[in-house]
Amino acid sequence: MIRTRNAVLPDVPAIHAIIEPYANVGTLLPRTLAELAENVRDFVVAEEERSRIVGCGALHLYGTHLAEIRSIAVSPFHKNRGVGRLLVTALMEESCRHSVTCVCLFTRVPGFFAHLGFEVARREELPDKIYKDCISCPKLADCDEIAMVIGKIPANTNGLRDPEILIPLVQLRR
Ligand SMILES: CC(C)(COP(=O)(O)OP(=O)(O)OC[C@H]1O[C@@H](n2cnc3c(N)ncnc32)[C@H](O)[C@@H]1OP(=O)(O)O)[C@@H](O)C(=O)NCCC(=O)NCCS
Repeated sequence: MIRTRNAVLPDVPAIHAIIEPYANVGTLLPRTLAELAENVRDFVVAEEERSRIVGCGALHLYGTHLAEIRSIAVSPFHKNRGVGRLLVTALMEESCRHSVTCVCLFTRVPGFFAHLGFEVARREELPDKIYKDCISCPKLADCDEIAMVIGKIPANTNGLRDPEILIPLVQLRR
């Protein structure tokens, strides 16, 4: 049986080992051991019997208006057994515990997240993400990730959209 739990520092090497092969082929952003240690409280891990970690995912908090699911990965041998779903569910529960009203993510596998209820949204509606990561990304004008959200998109754009930022996001519906 596989269960999820909040990550702790001793899990960092196992989390790194799961993310690294996907980062090496450009599927996930690379994370150093130091970055993972600093942000380990963002992570949940999926653990099978005998305490072997087979998946991970993180929830980055911007505020109660927005959080971001990041670094979701399942070891190749454990794919297609519901582990990814377990991780997303755990992170969504975590977002509820923090009273977060909108959860976003950026992905190249929109089908998986759409299957779990996410929908395409527009990146300019999530300025927190733009100013944290996108603005310094070399792919800003050529982003190949689909953005998705669940919940109520923050009303912090006053209905105004930056015409320079046209990349669609996926919106997750509850
Ligand atoms: C994407 C990933 C996390 C999915 O994890 P998983 O454990 O294989 O997925 P699950 O078995 O939990 O799938 C849950 C459901 O989503 C469906 N699903 C899985 N991948 C899918 C895809 N790419 N497109 C559409 N549906 C998908 C499954 O069929 C399943 O449906 P069901 O519950 O109705 O039977 C995993 O494939 C992975 O680690 N990929 C590499 C890293 C990556 O791309 N991470 C996402 C970065 S944003």
